[in-house]
Amino acid sequence: MAESKRLRLGLLGAGRRAQAHLTTIAGLADRYEFVAVYDLAEGNAHAVAAPFGIKAYSDINEFFSRERLDVVDIVTPSECHHLMAKVAADHGVHMLIETPLAPTRAMMNFIAEVADKAGVRVEVAENAWRQPLQRLNRKAMDAGLIGGLLRVSNFYEIGGYHAMAALRYCAGAEVDEVRGIAHRFEVERSVETPDVPGMTSDTESWTQALLFFANGAIGSYVQISTWTSPLRRGHPRFITVEGTRGLIASGRSGVNALYRLENGVQAAYPLKIDTRQEGERKIPTRFYYETSPRVEYANPFADLPLKYADNWYRLGDDIARADELTSIYRAVVNKESPEYGIANARRDQELCIAIMESTRLDGQSVRLPLSGETVWEREQHETFRATWGGDPLKDADQLITRNFLRTGLRRQRAYDFVV
Ligand SMILES: NC(=O)c1ccc[n+]([C@@H]2O[C@H](COP(=O)([O-])OP(=O)(O)OC[C@H]3O[C@@H](n4cnc5c(N)ncnc54)[C@H](O)[C@@H]3O)[C@@H](O)[C@H]2O)c1
Repeated sequence: MAESKRLRLGLLGAGRRAQAHLTTIAGLADRYEFVAVYDLAEGNAHAVAAPFGIKAYSDINEFFSRERLDVVDIVTPSECHHLMAKVAADHGVHMLIETPLAPTRAMMNFIAEVADKAGVRVEVAENAWRQPLQRLNRKAMDAGLIGGLLRVSNFYEIGGYHAMAALRYCAGAEVDEVRGIAHRFEVERSVETPDVPGMTSDTESWTQALLFFANGAIGSYVQISTWTSPLRRGHPRFITVEGTRGLIASGRSGVNALYRLENGVQAAYPLKIDTRQEGERKIPTRFYYETSPRVEYANPFADLPLKYADNWYRLGDDIARADELTSIYRAVVNKESPEYGIANARRDQELCIAIMESTRLDGQSVRLPLSGETVWEREQHETFRATWGGDPLKDADQLITRNFLRTGLRRQRAYDFVV
């Protein structure tokens, strides 16, 4: 890799998630020169630009025409990712796009088409499978440590497309068929707090789905809309992978360990993490199980000045974001495909759409790939039209003007940025 080349990077969207991206961008200064930020909410753009001493824009066309960008990091709400992608492609700029890539398959296809036509590369910031723990577990499975794969499960650990990405990665195969059921329950209302804003619903919707993988593995997905609310705090959250000779349990609550039969008796290998102290920074260097043979995932960014969360689980996201930004960097510099890309992100979201379709049909089997627009997708397009005053696809060109983008601007919040 031509590591010496630095790419000019711009940020689109300066909201909550952008804050996490910024700490990573700051740590990848050997790869990226961070030059400009765009957000329709001028205050948000300025709050990001000031500590970096870079230019803030609230006009997207000005942002692209004044700055000679190599890559943009798109962190706006997902319903307008395809519009941001269209402007980036029109200016010949490569992109990293946050998840979900877009709500519907038609909108995701739109991104694929504009990128293809412009010859620009797109990586998707799916972090679930890039977590060090997932990478370590994949290595343990590939080494045959738990035997042949039987089942993968996600219980409250992560939701939606993130869970689909993790389950597909664990299973190492694509899903042929899903069945799902969903129920809405009345519950006592939680109180909104600064760390859990907006969790004030007096209902919660619960989904349970079965995923049938092409390699015979069965996936189980259980999730609740109140998973991060005070109401369900403390509920165990985990992912498990079960094989013919053992299992791996991981997650932010409960045990994190690999268990396997050795001469018919269970042997347990708890997750271990080595760290290195550098001034105030505690750098995770490797994640491993002391099995025989030993499996480990070494932090590829241990020598870069990245910031890491104190919490051992959350620092996995710090590594995942560095991985996403490095993937699009390599794709551009080496003229190769990004590691994950549009096709994988589309599969994750398509699975969510298929599960919703099955729940609508009271648990009937839904086969993949989906054909035709689902009821949920039609509703997404209708909601978009009602909010934005134009069709997400047919009116895309018209929507990419300041006034129309303003129509769609929502969830505007002020942020204090800590870089
Ligand atoms: N990978 C993850 O773990 C993860 C976590 C959180 C959010 N996300 C994704 O990141 C993206 C952003 O989410 P967020 O939580 O930061 O949202 P947010 O609402 O906090 O921030 C969005 C920003 O985009 C700006 N914006 C809104 N509408 C706009 C428009 N029409 N044109 C230009 N700018 C506009 C807002 O002013 C705001 O600054 C979403 O796609 C979300 O799904 C991913």
